[in-house]
Amino acid sequence: MSDLLWQKPGIAIDARIQAFLAGDDVVLDREFFLHDIAASRVHAQGLHRIGMLSADELAGLLRELDALAVDFRSGAFALDARHEDGHSAIEARLVERLGDAGKRIHAGRSRNDQVLVANRLWLKDRLTQLQALAREAAAIALDRAEAEMLLPLPGYTHLQRAVVSSAGMWWAGWAEAFIDDAERAAATRAWIDANPLGTAAGYGINLALDRDHATTALGFARLQVAPTYAQLSRGKFELAALEALGSAMLDLRRLAWDLSLFTSAEFGFVALPPQYTTGSSIMPNKRNPDVVELMRGTYASVAAARTEIEQLLSLPSGYHRDLQVSKGALFHGFGKGLQALALLPGLLRDLQWQPEAMRAALDPSLYATDLAVELAKQGVPFRDAYRQAADPARWRARDPEASLQARTSPGAAGEPRLASLRARLDTLG
Ligand code: ARG
Repeated sequence: MSDLLWQKPGIAIDARIQAFLAGDDVVLDREFFLHDIAASRVHAQGLHRIGMLSADELAGLLRELDALAVDFRSGAFALDARHEDGHSAIEARLVERLGDAGKRIHAGRSRNDQVLVANRLWLKDRLTQLQALAREAAAIALDRAEAEMLLPLPGYTHLQRAVVSSAGMWWAGWAEAFIDDAERAAATRAWIDANPLGTAAGYGINLALDRDHATTALGFARLQVAPTYAQLSRGKFELAALEALGSAMLDLRRLAWDLSLFTSAEFGFVALPPQYTTGSSIMPNKRNPDVVELMRGTYASVAAARTEIEQLLSLPSGYHRDLQVSKGALFHGFGKGLQALALLPGLLRDLQWQPEAMRAALDPSLYATDLAVELAKQGVPFRDAYRQAADPARWRARDPEASLQARTSPGAAGEPRLASLRARLDTLG
């Protein structure tokens, strides 16, 4: 390791202790690196505005920061164990290329606010992706709800057949769920959208750095004002972001459950295109819905990330190195969660109903509730109507579409009001 910014002369570094301190931090910092460079640009501009860097020095720093970003993207610059962390790597490269200008850039900042600002910029990007994926899933679900409202599907409670429902009603439920998730991602993003740069090590700095200017330059909506809150808000916002992700994953897990049931021979309601299935090493007959199963299983990675970060947050005020442990959990949780959600729109578009199997599952008992309500409408007290309709001798096969019309047409209490869902979807951009 070449660049321990804090090393004191005469104090030997124990290799095993150093390895423990380093962990995989520098590798994890690859996720934050471009955001760290972006914030370093703005910090350099701030130093120039208060006369701490000459125009030439600023120009050199901006040029070299841009070049570093290009080299990092292309792989020409590797962020690896030569450096203690991503922050040290940026400074080392600037010193190597520019000498004194590179040595000036850390005036007025700490790695503590450096990691915070990179972290918030990163979370904002991820929440934007989450919002877009949830919105896309909702849009497909809504289109299919409109097209398939009268395609009959049994409705289940307790996994027992209950009433006649439809593919469209199933879709409308997913449309509303994913709109909720997209809105939650947007709200969480707005909450995180505050700039911690300038809080330094957590106690501010004796320089007139223009924090409002930095806030605008970095595209933050507002300033995080109190330096003493900045550090401990880190885990709180990471948790909030994982909760927003977890909300979408909760829906994905349930959707995956429905599909793994519906694709079984016992239901047979859904066929998945072959690319969503795999085979067995021993049973030549098998096509297994592994994609939906892994979507369901990914919930565990997101929930585990939340738990790991929550366990870290039992800390007093101020920066503590414990906080860095959150990065592994955060990247793993978001990496897995967004990877699973990215496959969702295609899955929703491609899944095919099997209308014959769906119709065959509509036994006459599914109209018993309709019958009880019809009798009540004719004036029979509902409890008496219920008892009459409980008699299997009164159950008759019916036209499922008529039953669906009565429940989903405009004015019916069960109308899924797709136009209102469409209006909410449109406000999501
Ligand atoms: N790697 C650290 C983290 O992620 C960056 C800040 C380190 N600060 C320090 N004083 N050691 O939290």
